[in-house]
Amino acid sequence: MNKPFSQACENNKDPILAVLREHLGSGRLLEIGSGTGQHAAWLPAFLPGIDWQPSDVAENLPGIRAWLDEGPSNVRLPLELDVRGSWPDETFEYIFTANTFHIMDTDSVRLCIRQAGEHLVRGGLFLIYGPFCYNGACADSNARFDTSLRAQDPAMGLRDYTWIEECMREADFEPVADHAMPANNRILVFRRN
Ligand SMILES: C[S@@+](CC[C@H](N)C(=O)[O-])C[C@H]1O[C@@H](n2cnc3c(N)ncnc32)[C@H](O)[C@@H]1O
Repeated sequence: MNKPFSQACENNKDPILAVLREHLGSGRLLEIGSGTGQHAAWLPAFLPGIDWQPSDVAENLPGIRAWLDEGPSNVRLPLELDVRGSWPDETFEYIFTANTFHIMDTDSVRLCIRQAGEHLVRGGLFLIYGPFCYNGACADSNARFDTSLRAQDPAMGLRDYTWIEECMREADFEPVADHAMPANNRILVFRRN
């Protein structure tokens, strides 16, 4: 099959790698919402201590597999995982997700955070890449993006950092870092207590 392609993934993979290198040691990493599979096909090559498990809803798995035909040896075949359904019966040292919290509705985001808490070892990290608002305000480009998302589907939209931190604390996470990234994106890092 033709591999699905996201230009945004090409643009953000180097800055994301720099932050992952800062926080990741060794262990298993679950990626939620792997999308095209480009991150899973490229990032693990530079994170040799990481055993990378991509995942997404069923319809995206063939595209992810196509990318992984040429992927590094420390990435597994993608797992079918809809955060609203059943999760794998295992724990991970890390969970990473990119550009998913503004696509999922708020109930799914909250559920994803709660399940992440149950599938990370104590001290494990949850790293979340994407655009966020802060106290209801965000950069102009993110405000336009938020408007276009909500026009497509009122359940989508940028999430506020304060709300995410609240959901995280409910799931027994504490904030560790909030990295500014190119194009008004962030990487939020939370540790499971
Ligand atoms: C904008 S794409 C981002 C894909 C990729 N991570 C990236 O950065 O390019 C959003 C992803 O979230 C996934 N997603 C949306 N709802 C989901 C759910 N309930 N459970 C798991 N993944 C979901 C979609 O299937 C899609 O792959």
